Amino acid sequence: MYEFVFRHLFRRIDPERAHHLGMLVIRMLGMRPVAAVLRVITRPHASLRTRALGLTFASPFGVAAGFDKDALGAAGLHALGFGHVEIGTVTAIAQDGNPRPRLFRLVADRALVNRMGFNNRGAAAAASRLARLRRRSPRPVLGANIGKSRVVDVDAATADYVASTRAVAPVADYLVVNVSSPNTPGLRTLQAVETLRPLLTAVREAAGPTPLLVKIAPDLTDEEIDAISSLAVDAGLAGLIATNTTISRDGLRSLAATVEAAGAGGVSGAPLATRALEVLRRVRAAVPERFCVIAVGGVDTAADVRARLAAGADLVQGYTGFIYRGPLWAHRINRDLVRGR
Ligand code: FNR
Repeated sequence: MYEFVFRHLFRRIDPERAHHLGMLVIRMLGMRPVAAVLRVITRPHASLRTRALGLTFASPFGVAAGFDKDALGAAGLHALGFGHVEIGTVTAIAQDGNPRPRLFRLVADRALVNRMGFNNRGAAAAASRLARLRRRSPRPVLGANIGKSRVVDVDAATADYVASTRAVAPVADYLVVNVSSPNTPGLRTLQAVETLRPLLTAVREAAGPTPLLVKIAPDLTDEEIDAISSLAVDAGLAGLIATNTTISRDGLRSLAATVEAAGAGGVSGAPLATRALEVLRRVRAAVPERFCVIAVGGVDTAADVRARLAAGADLVQGYTGFIYRGPLWAHRINRDLVRGR
């Protein structure tokens, strides 16, 4: 049903506009009486309960960063069956992001291209929403993903990340340092071990007891992945998230003109799946068992979730599949995980 409506109606609507419409509905679904009724249907089976990061997740499957940048829809997303919601990326200074259009569909690839550029209302605004969300019961596990404010120089990134950390870490269940978005100039250079070490050490200190993770790009070399994995363990992080979107355009089925018209940005969805799984395997081989690895990139079905868990992921996230599969996506994945489909 959703796929029919998507084919004939949604794909005619500008993708960012469609996202805002979807968020409106999700926010309504998060209103207490509505959420309570929905939860009767969508509550994940008890067998899906997962322990990671010292927390209990109702399902191993959650919403990746970027979908709910300002923590507006977490209650509704929980009502739809997601076990955790990673809000953000938020930055210390509120910002508009890149000029529109900045989000594109590659329907033939079941993919998206985005160059949003961390549009968000700032870490302080997100913190007050997170504080309110934490008082709700039931609620999803709430992660907070932080990035560098665009107006801040890459050389001054540490202080900027620390400012965001001070705002959101006290009200988040876990914190993620995002150094892997392709849409903030210079951000990915922070993945170099010599710059990443002082950054992670400072954020780790500022985060207090909140578990800290780092999110990496799929475009790193295998050697770089090994180096960051070891660094994350050495720096006392609790985990790593693999992966963000890719800047690669290899292997796409969409017409070259369609891909070119979308322009610069990160590709997410099905074309990312193979590399994201490879990176997951590489990370898992480089870190101890107690270290949490969250898999993201091209996950579409319960079989994909199961494959990521089998490859060593503790938790799995998705974003693009939600656009193509619709509102019951998490519920179906949870159900199929239980049925072994
Ligand atoms: C993202 N992603 C993302 N990641 C992040 O760490 N911070 C962010 O702000 C965003 N923003 C964002 C916007 C849009 C429109 C998309 C499609 C993606 C990346 C996302 O969290 C995830 O890592 C990738 O999309 C890969 O997963 P999927 O989409 O293939 O399931």
